[in-house]
Amino acid sequence: DKGNHRHFMQKEIFEQPVVVAQTLGSYLRPLAGEVALPIPEFDFADIRRVTIVACGTSFYAGMVAKYWFERFARVPVDIDVASEFRYREPVLEEGGLALFISQSGETADTLAALRHARAAGQKIAVVVNVPTSSMAREADLLLPTHAGPEIGVASTKAFTCQLAVLAALAANFARVKGRLTPDEEQAIVRHLAEAPAAMNAALAHDEEIEALAPLVARARDVLYLGRGPDYPMALEGALKLKEISYIHAEGYAAGEMKHGPIALIDEDVPVIVIAPSGPLFDKTVSNMQEVQARGGKVVLISDAAGIMAAGEGTIATIEMPEVHPLIAPLVYAIPVQLLAYHVAVAKGTDVDQPRNLAKSVTVE
Ligand code: M6R
Repeated sequence: DKGNHRHFMQKEIFEQPVVVAQTLGSYLRPLAGEVALPIPEFDFADIRRVTIVACGTSFYAGMVAKYWFERFARVPVDIDVASEFRYREPVLEEGGLALFISQSGETADTLAALRHARAAGQKIAVVVNVPTSSMAREADLLLPTHAGPEIGVASTKAFTCQLAVLAALAANFARVKGRLTPDEEQAIVRHLAEAPAAMNAALAHDEEIEALAPLVARARDVLYLGRGPDYPMALEGALKLKEISYIHAEGYAAGEMKHGPIALIDEDVPVIVIAPSGPLFDKTVSNMQEVQARGGKVVLISDAAGIMAAGEGTIATIEMPEVHPLIAPLVYAIPVQLLAYHVAVAKGTDVDQPRNLAKSVTVE
């Protein structure tokens, strides 16, 4: 049932504050200022390396998680798409943690990678949205997301719920490793608990984003730029746009532009810059200015301070609430999802059932 929404994707985008709150509810103890996992006795103490494997949007959630694991726990993280992982003969030390992320829990490549990792002596953790799925059954540590059934082929609410679980997991892991003080853990819990309200504030920009859609719908190519944990958000924005609107889009690490893609920039290429204010902001803005100097049409997604600091020269700005960098990916997911959604609607494509795609990819 789509309720009063036109598409399941739209309904699922708007459900995010609620389902993220629901998911966080089972991973946070706000009063104690602690994160908690469903299997509290799971032993991370001897784990010296984490390997993350997933496909598509779930892979981008994994890329964000890599930043968190490295930052909080100072543990090296390797990450790969499932379709490449098995075939490159990955070096897996006995007793490492292999982490699989999947909405469906049935993606063939991810499931095969899980079995490969198990055979190589890894402990298996899975973040899945379907608790009865194959991956859920084969896990040592099952970390469910509580997004509820996701119908739209484009993954939206499952993604932000994955991010919520992964942030809690990274914090828990860091605590076990002795890398997080109680104060630091408490701060993480506080920031995560602020995510649902910030996501609501992001959703309030729906109409503004809809108004931008015709401009993007006319384009043949669109670029998305971000840095740090917002680089995977650029990749995710581009994936969303191409899968439902059929417009060619690329996500790039903002600093990579000058190594090639800047040659593509002219006045016909919209460039979506994802840049919350914070330690990486100035660098991203200088990459943005390089694009503007070549006539690129920049849409800046930032907060009030960022938009002010970036100055003039953008064709549009989308103002997100001021948030801690930890939760920025959860909040900034919303404008990129909404932009893809409205562009697809403007183009008249089948938003919930895009051509050539299946919700669950059970072939390799
Ligand atoms: O069910 P999974 O999370 O394993 O699916 C992985 C990808 O097939 C999926 O995220 C796909 O990229 C989506 N259509 C993206 O919106």
